[in-house]
Amino acid sequence: MKVAVLGAAGGIGQALSLLLKTQLPAGSDLALFDIAPVTPGVAVDLSHIPTAVSIKGYGEDGLATALQGADIVLIPAGVPRKPGMDRSDLFNMNAGIIKNLVEACADNCPEACIGIITNPVNTTVAIAAEVLKKKGVYDKNKLFGVTTLDVIRAETFVAELKGKNPADIHVPVIGGHSGTTILPLLSQVEGIEFSQDEVEQLTHRIQNAGTEVVEAKAGGGSATLSMGQAAARFCLSLARAKQGEAVTEYAYVEGDGSDAPFFAQAVKLGKDGVVEILPYGQLSDFEAKAKADMLDGLKGDIQTGIEFANQ
Ligand code: APR
Repeated sequence: MKVAVLGAAGGIGQALSLLLKTQLPAGSDLALFDIAPVTPGVAVDLSHIPTAVSIKGYGEDGLATALQGADIVLIPAGVPRKPGMDRSDLFNMNAGIIKNLVEACADNCPEACIGIITNPVNTTVAIAAEVLKKKGVYDKNKLFGVTTLDVIRAETFVAELKGKNPADIHVPVIGGHSGTTILPLLSQVEGIEFSQDEVEQLTHRIQNAGTEVVEAKAGGGSATLSMGQAAARFCLSLARAKQGEAVTEYAYVEGDGSDAPFFAQAVKLGKDGVVEILPYGQLSDFEAKAKADMLDGLKGDIQTGIEFANQ
């Protein structure tokens, strides 16, 4: 198993790489790529951790080598918002980064499963799909927007509110990966009843959890450690599935389009990525309305990605 992390020297990338170094199956190879000069050093640092996972760092001219033979590619590369940049500046930069990196995936590891972490995920996944289509290597079962952070946040917040162990809580989270497109299905949390007030407050908290971190870090960045953990969980699930285990995870994938061309829901994973997209079941009236209200926004995010890739 070879896993490549693109953007490995960043806040998310380093946390993710640490977790993969300690948790990937023995015998795996981990390739860290980033344009930051510190990247080979991050790899050397991690290489001193005694696990049977070999690790190598690649700088600017090493992208192709980092990707060759990769089974899984995770992409947290991007730029955080800097003073003077507006949302569209940020979008254009991250969209361009995703386009270039996914082109390199198409050229060097066309069969790999790709997990996109770079925001805005609702849009960057659509860009990645268009890039792969143009290269003639698109397989919708192998492209994922990583939404695991929404799931782990939902589980944490429900456990906190109800005084439970988060390990015992399972919360389906569907839709997209920003604001109101994130739709936790609290009506489906087994064994727990919520008042309408709790549903509204929890839904709002889960949808705005990223802002909670940004505000608490007071200008020092956004979620990196919890995102690293979420991406590691997703990658390790994918790795287990590739080794023949039946695994289910939530991810933002291309489905039958009945809600939107890309939609996050539970997916059964296997050797070649998505084996089956699982139905999300009956929604409460509150959830059905929330879904109806956000779908146009989600479809707009996806269209923006398609247009960016084809401009
Ligand atoms: N190729 C590879 N790495 C790149 C590229 C590129 N073209 N452009 C930027 N990077 C790297 C940076 O060098 C940096 O190490 O991506 C890393 C980003 O790390 P941080 O700035 O610490 O940002 P982080 O908090 O990790 O967030 C990364 O995730 O949620 C999204 O919107 C967020 O796009 C951002 C991304």
